[in-house]
Amino acid sequence: MQKAVEAALVEAMLRVKPRAVFGFATGSTPIALYRRLAERHRAGKVSFRDAASFNLDEYLGITPDNPQSYRAYMQREFFDQVDIDPANTHLPECPPGEDPQRIGPRYETMIRDAGGIDLQVLGIGHNGHIGFNEPSSSLVSRTRVKTLTPRTLEANSRLFEDGEYQPRLAITMGIATIMEARRILLLATGDAKATAVAGLVEGPVTAMCPASALQLHERVTVLLDEAAAAQLRYREYYDLANRENRALKDRFGDFYAAD
Ligand code: PGA
Repeated sequence: MQKAVEAALVEAMLRVKPRAVFGFATGSTPIALYRRLAERHRAGKVSFRDAASFNLDEYLGITPDNPQSYRAYMQREFFDQVDIDPANTHLPECPPGEDPQRIGPRYETMIRDAGGIDLQVLGIGHNGHIGFNEPSSSLVSRTRVKTLTPRTLEANSRLFEDGEYQPRLAITMGIATIMEARRILLLATGDAKATAVAGLVEGPVTAMCPASALQLHERVTVLLDEAAAAQLRYREYYDLANRENRALKDRFGDFYAAD
C-alpha cells in the first residue's frame, strides 16, 4: 500500500512536469519505491524520458563500477529499469585523483543550472541524518565531504562482506541544499527509526537531529509505517489532519495542484 502512495507522488510530479528534476536517495528504504516505479514503467504508466536526477550522496574512495557505490546501486535498482537518460542522472562522484573538496561547489552549480530539485526523496538514519549529514552538521551546510559516524558505519556494515573495504567518507548534499528542493518526500519504516522520526517531526530544530531542519520547509510529506510512527506524541492529530486533507484533495485536486 505504502509503496503505491510513494510512487503516486512521483508520478503526479511527472504528470505536472515531465521534465521534473528529482533528488534520489539510496539505502534500503526507497527500494520499494524504485521497484514500484519500475513496474509502472514496464506497464507503460510512467516515463522518466525527460526527467533528470541528482542523488543525495556518494562514497569517497570507491569507483562507480564498485557494486557498493551509490552509482552502482542506482543503476541496478532504478536507472537501468526505467527510461531515464543516463546523461541526466547525477551523483556527487569524485573521480580518482581529483580533490574531493571541489566536487561540492560543482554539484551545487549543476543542480542550480538544472533549475533546482522539484521533488527530493529522503530516508532518515537512526541518528536522524538525512543524506550523510550526520548529527552536528551545520543546518546551512552545502554539498561537501563528510566523515561518517561510527553509528552510521555500523548500520551500513550489514551491506559489506567481512574484509570488504567500507568507505568512511562521503560527499553529500548539505542540509541547505536539501532544503532548497521544492518538495520533499521522506520515507521511514521500522522501529529502529522511531526515535529519529520523533526528532524530525516533534523535536527541537537542532543540528543533533539533522532531519529536524525539515520543520522549516514548507512542503514535506512524511510517509511512515506503524513502527516508525510509534513514538509520535501527536499521532492521533496527524491521522485526523490526514483525513481532512484527503477530503480537501478529493474535492479540489491533488498534492501538486497548488503550484
Ligand atoms: P536505510 O538508510 O534506508 O538503509 O535505513 C537511511 C539513511 O541512512 O538515510
